[in-house]
Amino acid sequence: MTTISETQSNSAKHIAVIPGDGAGVDVTAEAVKVLKAAAAASGLTIELEQFDWSADRYLRDGTTLPAGAARMLVERFDAILFGALGDPRVRDNRHAAEILLGLRFQLDLYVNARPCQLLDARLTPLRNRSERDLDFVIFRENTEGLYVNIGGVFKRDTPDEVAVQEQINTRKGVERILRHGFEYARRHKRSRLCMSDKANALPHGHGLWQRVFAELRPQFPEIEASHLYVDALAAEMVRDPSQFQVIVAPNLLGDILSDLGAQLVGGMGVAPSGNIHPGRIGLFEPVHGSAPKIAGKNLANPIGSVLSAAMMLDEIGKPAEAAAIREAVRVSVREGKTTTDLGGSMGTREVGDWLADYVTGHAVTRT
Ligand code: IPM
Ligand code: MN
Repeated sequence: MTTISETQSNSAKHIAVIPGDGAGVDVTAEAVKVLKAAAAASGLTIELEQFDWSADRYLRDGTTLPAGAARMLVERFDAILFGALGDPRVRDNRHAAEILLGLRFQLDLYVNARPCQLLDARLTPLRNRSERDLDFVIFRENTEGLYVNIGGVFKRDTPDEVAVQEQINTRKGVERILRHGFEYARRHKRSRLCMSDKANALPHGHGLWQRVFAELRPQFPEIEASHLYVDALAAEMVRDPSQFQVIVAPNLLGDILSDLGAQLVGGMGVAPSGNIHPGRIGLFEPVHGSAPKIAGKNLANPIGSVLSAAMMLDEIGKPAEAAAIREAVRVSVREGKTTTDLGGSMGTREVGDWLADYVTGHAVTRT
C-alpha cells in the first residue's frame, strides 16, 4: 500500500532549464546529463523543459525575460536550473540583468546560498589547508541592497555629470536573510555565524543590519554570532578560513565574498549556488559567468553547474540523488578526472560523461 506522502515524494519533478549564454550552455548540458543519470539510478522521474532566454534570443527578437515568465515558472515547475548570462555582443548586459536579476526579484528569491567547500586539499591556493579547514556557506541577501536599480544620471556626458545609484535595506529584508542564516546554522549543527557589513562607512543602511542582528542573536543562544566589517572579513577568509561556518552579507558584499570564497576552494569552476525562497521554486546556477573566451570549446569546468543541480535536488526533497552526485564529484576530483583548470586533461563533456557513469554505476540509496 502506498501512503500519500510516498506517492508525493515519488511523483515526477519538473525542471525548467535555462542554459543562457557561452559556457553556461556548455556546463548546463553536463549538469543535465548527470541529473538524468542520478534520477535514472534512483527511479526518480524528472521532466526537463528548456528555455532559450539568452543573448542570441535577445539579439534575434528583443526578448529578455518574457512577460509572464515568472508566473509560468511558478505554476509549472519545481525548480530552475540556470547556466550563465553575458555576451560581448550585448555591451550593457541588459538581457543578463533582466533575465537573471528579473527572476531573482520577481520570484523573491531572497537567499543566495553559496557554499564554499574544499573538495580536495590540492585545490586550495592556501598553504597547509585541508578539507576540514574550508567548509562554509555564504548567504548573500539577494533582493535588495545595491541591486535594486534605483538611481539615475544627471547632465549625462558633460563634465558635470552626476550618477546616483541608491541602495535599499528594509527591516523585513534584512531580518529574513539573517534569520535564514541562523536557522540554517541551527538545522545543520553549525555553531558559528558571522554577519558582515560596512556599517562604519554606511551607518544608515548597514546600521539597520547591525540593529536587526542584535535583536535576533538572543533567539539563537546556542550559536556563536560574530560580526566583521567586510574588508576585515575578506582578510580573515584568507588568513584563517577555518573559523567560518555560516556567513551572512548584503547583496553586493556577498557577491564579492563569494568569488573570493570560490577561489579559496578551487576557483570559479567549482562553485555552486542556489537562489532560494524556502518553500517556493528556486533557481540554481554556478557562481561563474558565461566565460566567452572558453565558451563552446569543451574547456569549461562543469562541476559548479553539476553541484548546483545537486543543491537543487536537496531543495526539492531529493537528498539521496543530491548526495550521489556530490560523491561522484568528490571522487572525480580526487582521481584527477577533471578539466584543465583543476589540473586534469579532460574536456567539459568528458567530465560530464565520467560523472554520469559514476552515478549510474553506484546505487543511489534513499535515506
Ligand atoms: C552573480 C553574478 C551576477 C550578480 C551578475 C551577472 C549580475 O555576478 O550571480 O554573482 O552580481 O549577482
Ligand atoms: Mn558574482
